[in-house]
Amino acid sequence: EGNHSEPGILAGKKVVVTAGPTRERIDPVRYLSNFSSGKMGYAMAEAASRLGAETVLVSGPVGLEVPAGIRAVQVESAADMLDSVLAEYATADVVIKAAAVADYRPKTVHGGKMKKQDGDSVIELERTTDILKTLGEQKEGQCLIGFAAETDRVAEYARGKLERKNLDYIIANDVTAPTGVFGSDTNVVTLFGRDGTEVSFPATEKKALALKLLRRIFGGERDDR
Ligand code: CTP
Ligand code: CA
Repeated sequence: EGNHSEPGILAGKKVVVTAGPTRERIDPVRYLSNFSSGKMGYAMAEAASRLGAETVLVSGPVGLEVPAGIRAVQVESAADMLDSVLAEYATADVVIKAAAVADYRPKTVHGGKMKKQDGDSVIELERTTDILKTLGEQKEGQCLIGFAAETDRVAEYARGKLERKNLDYIIANDVTAPTGVFGSDTNVVTLFGRDGTEVSFPATEKKALALKLLRRIFGGERDDR
């Protein structure tokens, strides 16, 4: 894939990538999470590094190997991820939020294992902080790139998130794509830009797709679909 001798279009840039799910604890033995495999985020980090960036990968719990040359920060919850990303933000040029951050967490984390009882049970939830929205509010020249997982009205919802979170680009996955998204080695996405960019990429292996996306965003390429 690609031209290995291309100049590093991200040389001299610091790129922070988040990947994977978050885990929100219920008690010492249980948590809420989602099916994110982390593969797309790891592919984005590997691509950024290959294009010359100093790359920091803030990763939720996934079993993936960290590519050589990348500094990884392992986190568990959305709150941990927020702290770790904010610690890198002031010196970052680009933030890519590929993580599938839990939108809710249990309101109380039980200190001991919850015991079952007769009948149903209810776990009260509260919203987590929207990390990307927080970054958008504190933006000082960084390029902010979000991901969006949608099942319908993909363009409308993705563009809504681009605006609401003050992003420069958003990469939308249609999670109903027949090839699947979660855990798959391929992905089908559309890139939307604040500048009006709208480019659809056909089903492509995640590692190759990550390179294509970064080249399209930072390399000024216009015909690489
Ligand atoms: N995101 C985040 N912090 C959260 C939730 C989401 O930083 N607490 C980021 C994700 O990493 C992703 C983007 O926001 O880059 C969009 O995530 P998505 O789940 O598609 O959108 P939400 O804004 O959470 O809206 P909804 O899940 O209701 O569609
Ligand atoms: Ca969400």
